[in-house]
Amino acid sequence: MAVTYVSIALLYERSETDEMGIKLTAEKLGLDLAFIPFRKIGFCIANQAFSAKSKGNDFTKIIEDSVVVLNRAQSKNRRLQAGYLLEVLGKKTVNSSSIEFICYSKLRTLLNLWKADLPIPKTVFIPCDAKDTLKNGKLFSNEKDIADLFQQMLFLEDGIVIKPDSATHGKGMLLSNNREELIAHIQKTAPSIINPVGIVAQEFIDKWFFDLRIIVYKEKGKPPVCHPTALARGGLNDFRTNTYLGNAVFAAKLPSNIIDLSIKSGETLAKGEQAWVFALDAMIKINKNKIIDEKQLKIEFNKAQTAFSPIKKIKSEKYKKDFSSWNNKLEESFSTYKLSKSYQKVKKIIDDTIEKNKTKIIFHEANSCPEFWEYTRLITGINVAIPLIKGACSLL
Ligand SMILES: Nc1ncnc2c1ncn2[C@@H]1O[C@H](COP(=O)(O)OP(=O)(O)OP(=O)(O)O)[C@@H](O)[C@H]1O
Ligand SMILES: [Mg+2]
Repeated sequence: MAVTYVSIALLYERSETDEMGIKLTAEKLGLDLAFIPFRKIGFCIANQAFSAKSKGNDFTKIIEDSVVVLNRAQSKNRRLQAGYLLEVLGKKTVNSSSIEFICYSKLRTLLNLWKADLPIPKTVFIPCDAKDTLKNGKLFSNEKDIADLFQQMLFLEDGIVIKPDSATHGKGMLLSNNREELIAHIQKTAPSIINPVGIVAQEFIDKWFFDLRIIVYKEKGKPPVCHPTALARGGLNDFRTNTYLGNAVFAAKLPSNIIDLSIKSGETLAKGEQAWVFALDAMIKINKNKIIDEKQLKIEFNKAQTAFSPIKKIKSEKYKKDFSSWNNKLEESFSTYKLSKSYQKVKKIIDDTIEKNKTKIIFHEANSCPEFWEYTRLITGINVAIPLIKGACSLL
């Protein structure tokens, strides 16, 4: 008979494919999850009393009965708030709010990796805005000073990437190839709710045409694990290769030194927490050490991209009402893609390139609430819902 844990809750903002996937996976594992639709609920604290209610439902008991909460609020700010709130109520969270606090900011993530001697891109953080308003109401421009600092501290004239300290999906990231561009790019930056403090500048890493997303996780009482296959995200049109921009994905075999460094990165960022899951974003500094020329790569890559396009179409259709049949369709399209010659050719280029350059790995970001249901799961073979749920169970 299936074991039932009603003591694990899934907190979410909108139920999207990942949340549907966690639900489906929990059902398959015989677990009964409770659900907390964070954005719809008011949380009331009064003397010695707590209640949580949406307009139609009372969630107080669900929250009281939950021992562990999977925190899947999408926005970083809301996730941080949800995690902290639940922890004060005595709940355990995956990931914890201290992990969320680190991953919220690229600077905080990189600081921790740097302190543990892990390889990161050379990075400059400036907590100053491009435009300041003086006390007398006048607008003051800092772009040139900021550009000076970036160039002097990175020892670079060109090849400078600027990014918001906190952002996702490659938004607000710009690559400058000369000083004029750098100043123009700094001018475009402004503090926002998503990125309240500062921008970072980094040396441009010549990663050729792909970067890596590596899954590391830990259950309480067990050693940390790095999934040996990473998600390589590839594209030729933009220096940003993340999937949000429509880039194609490939499975990449990780050499043991990268697996070891990834585990160390996870442990470093987890700061002693007992159960956690990260998707680490990493690049390999390939520079001129390419195994085929650009022209040949372009031919092979374009063929793979054509084979990838049916997947993008199904992904964009989303599931209407029937998640299960949409999911089957998606899985079939991935099988066809992965069996195609063009996919396998590019995958081999990636695998051979990684093996040849395996000592040049650089970690640039850690995602504490990664998307996984479509690409990571179907390309790399790990369903991240499993370490999430098992991590939660291990804390019960
Ligand atoms: N220093 C760099 N040099 C070269 N390319 C970079 C650098 N930093 C980031 N990139 C590229 O830009 C992409 C997005 O970068 P990053 O992961 O930092 O941003 P993000 O907004 O957090 O994206 P996501 O939410 O998709 O992870 C990376 O996938 C990588 O291809
Ligand atoms: Mg990233």
